[in-house]
Amino acid sequence: MSQEYSRINKLIDQINTHNHNYYAMDNPTISDSEYDRMFNELKALEAKNPALVLPHSPTHRVGGAIKKGFTEVKHATPMLSLSNSNGDTLMKDLTRMSVSPEELYCCEPKLDGLACSLLYENGFLIQGLTRGDGMSGEDITANVKTIRNIPLKLMGDIPKRLEVRGEIVMPKALFEEYNEKRRAQGKSTLKNPRNGAAGSVRQLDPSVTASRPLAFYAYGVVKTDGGSTLYRSHYDSLTLLQSLGFEVSSYVRRVKGPEQVKKYIDAIGRVRNEIPYEIDGAVFKIDSVEKQEALGYISRAPKWAFSYKYPAVEEMTTLLSVDMQIGRTGAVTPVGRLEPVDIAGVTVSNVTLHNQNEIERLGLMIGDRVIVRRAQEVIPQVIGVDVSSRPTDAKEIVFPTHCPVCNSALVRPEDEVVWRCSGGLICSAQRIEGLKHFVSRKAMNIDGVGEKLVSLLFEKGLVIDFSDLFHLTANQLMPLDGMASKSAENTIRSITQAKKTSLSRFVYALGIRGVGENSSRILATHFKSLEALMSACIDELVDVPDIGPITAKDIVTFFSHKGNLRVIRQLLDAGVSWESIKTVADSPIKGMNFVVTGGFSIVPRKSIEQAILDAGGKVSGSVSSKTQTLIVGTNAGSKLDKAIKINGAGGNITILDEDAGVAFLKGHEVLA
Ligand code: IVH
Repeated sequence: MSQEYSRINKLIDQINTHNHNYYAMDNPTISDSEYDRMFNELKALEAKNPALVLPHSPTHRVGGAIKKGFTEVKHATPMLSLSNSNGDTLMKDLTRMSVSPEELYCCEPKLDGLACSLLYENGFLIQGLTRGDGMSGEDITANVKTIRNIPLKLMGDIPKRLEVRGEIVMPKALFEEYNEKRRAQGKSTLKNPRNGAAGSVRQLDPSVTASRPLAFYAYGVVKTDGGSTLYRSHYDSLTLLQSLGFEVSSYVRRVKGPEQVKKYIDAIGRVRNEIPYEIDGAVFKIDSVEKQEALGYISRAPKWAFSYKYPAVEEMTTLLSVDMQIGRTGAVTPVGRLEPVDIAGVTVSNVTLHNQNEIERLGLMIGDRVIVRRAQEVIPQVIGVDVSSRPTDAKEIVFPTHCPVCNSALVRPEDEVVWRCSGGLICSAQRIEGLKHFVSRKAMNIDGVGEKLVSLLFEKGLVIDFSDLFHLTANQLMPLDGMASKSAENTIRSITQAKKTSLSRFVYALGIRGVGENSSRILATHFKSLEALMSACIDELVDVPDIGPITAKDIVTFFSHKGNLRVIRQLLDAGVSWESIKTVADSPIKGMNFVVTGGFSIVPRKSIEQAILDAGGKVSGSVSSKTQTLIVGTNAGSKLDKAIKINGAGGNITILDEDAGVAFLKGHEVLA
């Protein structure tokens, strides 16, 4: 028994350390299989000795017994809220709270999730509470234990008792991914990352929480047991929390004087979209804890901290009508036309309604008041309907049975939620969308030929197939609306220039279902020639990283279609060509891991990344201990911070600025 007890303890410590490296540091230090082996050994030992399931065992991370309800627990120290400052009051608030013009402030993003208080005794997590009404919250201990970046046991110099406050969030990308998957299954989706976080945490079955991608960011320490605060500076206590194993937002900065706070607020407002979790504002706090204490509180908010709210990303408006849009693969997307509404500085008048299931799930009718959400990088969506204000003349949304453009029947395979037009190439909507995709920046990149011109050329019968573009003459373009002779000539010149392309762009431009920009690059690098790709069978294709069986089948189907083969032949006959891909056996950077971040002025970032990939190097979107070289341009953000953090913890990432990076790649003949 005692031997097993010490083995269990050792496994717990090892697994918890690896968890921390993986989730909080984004810096994995063992393979997944080794991790699984240790985890399974621990599970087996615990199954044999139920009395030895220790409170900080990582096996709690997968959930546990289902509860009947949550117990209400009084907060030892109330959880306060923040007073708001805005453009008009900001400077006044900042000067009122500061003692000197050189005052230090800790500036933080205001995370939009669920506030949570975590209590540790002798280093062990013993309680997790929601904010509730601020005076008492609900006991969510079993649920917070499933959140991977929350330490179950603290590391380093462990205080006897510690209460940590922070926000539980659902990272934006994981939220989108989760909803995307649910939508494809025709299931209900989460409204926004905040609801996602709150709903996931308040689950009576902790295994449901465990299945949701959540993270905790610490933003404060509470004095406990009447003892002294850990640090005299708030910023330093956040650093201390990091060393104890917590994750703190990498956007936290300590600045001097009100002007710098204002700059921080503006800067975070500008990069708001790039932050991996949703924020609804910035928070600024007097850094000195002594001064905080002297300033004190008004009712339920401190006088030493304020929040500054950024514009909301959700607004209400009216759904005026619904149109059906046909994509290049025939997919029918219902598009809602809205009473235009300003959402965080952008006028929104169209929303995607995704598919028929989504409309039914929302119970949406034309004329309804709807909540529209405009998150960055994703098309605005309707996330809710106010049925109580439905007008009496609200109209049902009728899904068509035939394509509104070519009248072919709409079809829907049984296991899919998307209806498709069966018209194929006879459907002009599919053709126009295909052409728009073909000329687009990431595909053939034909400068000066945009969506409008493509539609016009199609309507005039000048361009029906892709290859028709390459036979256009300036004389044919000149009579078109808005085309002077000079611009007609320029357009023809850029069409001619675009004939010289790369295999990956060409593959992407063909618009094969499921083959995006990234897969096209992978396919081109793997097969190296169009002929090899065209003759690949499903088995060969699924062996290519990132290509799944469905896409493999779609690729084979595409290249077995006579019409598509004709289109490809015509393009090659029209002079579309690319340089053959060199074998990369000898490149000194082959297999090396790179991350490229920030803005570049000498060579565009995309070109640097492409050159590295072409030479057989690897390019990743995030910095980890596997990263060997980080090339940073201007305004580098969290990736640079992360690399510095990893190097500080014994890592060895070579960090190069633009000049040094370009020189390095030229020196290795990666860039010409
Ligand atoms: S400090 C005494 N810092 O905002 C100060 N709060 O209105 C208490 N929040 O529900 C909070 N990010 O969950 C603080 N960096 C941050 C925050 C933050 C988000 C939330 C918090 C609370 C609300 C306060």
